Amino acid sequence: MRLLNKIAFITGGGRGIGREIALAFAREGADVAVAARTQSEVETVAKEVQGLGRRGMAVRLDLTNRANIRQAVKTVLDHFGRVDILVNNAGVLSKGPVHTLDEETWDFTLAINLTGIFLVTQSLLGQMLERGWGRIININSSSGKIGLPYRSAYAASKHGALGFMRSLASEVADKGITVNAICPGLVDTQMWDTSVENFAAEMGKTPEEAREMFRQRIPVKRFTEAWELAPLAVYLASDDAISMTGQAIQLDGGFLQS
Ligand SMILES: NC(=O)c1ccc[n+]([C@@H]2O[C@H](COP(=O)([O-])OP(=O)(O)OC[C@H]3O[C@@H](n4cnc5c(N)ncnc54)[C@H](OP(=O)(O)O)[C@@H]3O)[C@@H](O)[C@H]2O)c1
Repeated sequence: MRLLNKIAFITGGGRGIGREIALAFAREGADVAVAARTQSEVETVAKEVQGLGRRGMAVRLDLTNRANIRQAVKTVLDHFGRVDILVNNAGVLSKGPVHTLDEETWDFTLAINLTGIFLVTQSLLGQMLERGWGRIININSSSGKIGLPYRSAYAASKHGALGFMRSLASEVADKGITVNAICPGLVDTQMWDTSVENFAAEMGKTPEEAREMFRQRIPVKRFTEAWELAPLAVYLASDDAISMTGQAIQLDGGFLQS
């Protein structure tokens, strides 16, 4: 029970990586607010958290809507009284060559993957500073460190999010708050399924052929499963990680070495 009685807020907690982190946190004794747009998904995960004997709360959150972000954070703080652990996990992947990429796609991607992280973090930081304890974990990507053709908005948002993470980590390092990022490679989730279909169409291959091509590029020759990210998130959220801050940790089957 490494997170006993901690309160966690997880954006994009309704499925994929966020759901696995929500359930792992609950198993370690945390109460969890699960936030995203799809009400049925966040409600299901909140019930799963309750099934593990912890308080689980479903919150509607749309990171493109500032009023909704403020409302969601207020709802969670009114309900739980505080948030100790923030996981900025929600994200979207967009595509398109730069010369035809429309501004809406650029703005939408950065709103969720970058500005959304800033807004949610800022709205929860004050109460962490007051208590002198906090854990902020951002789910980033290998695309936060390297460029990816036809995925410029995604890569720019993830690079920006790492800059934000490192700056904030420096700001609050002596205030009991750690700020880190986990950088997955290719994780078997809905996002990757959609992505494979898009890559396949771009390359004139079947989704199966595209999937196999990407699998061959991963040194361990397998995609990461969403649950594999959860133990690292538990560690980063725990008291054990007091000296771990400002880090962008790869968990990608050996794709990028540090
Ligand atoms: N899968 C991969 O291969 C991979 C690789 C590297 C990094 N990542 C990162 O891992 C994180 C989680 O991705 P995943 O693979 O678990 O994808 P996923 O299954 O598509 O889940 C994404 C989550 O983000 C939420 N979300 C999307 N737009 C949102 C918005 N406007 N407001 C609030 N929540 C929103 C989604 O819920 P709603 O749609 O219901 O809002 C969903 O819960 C992302 O940051 C992604 O960039 C994934």
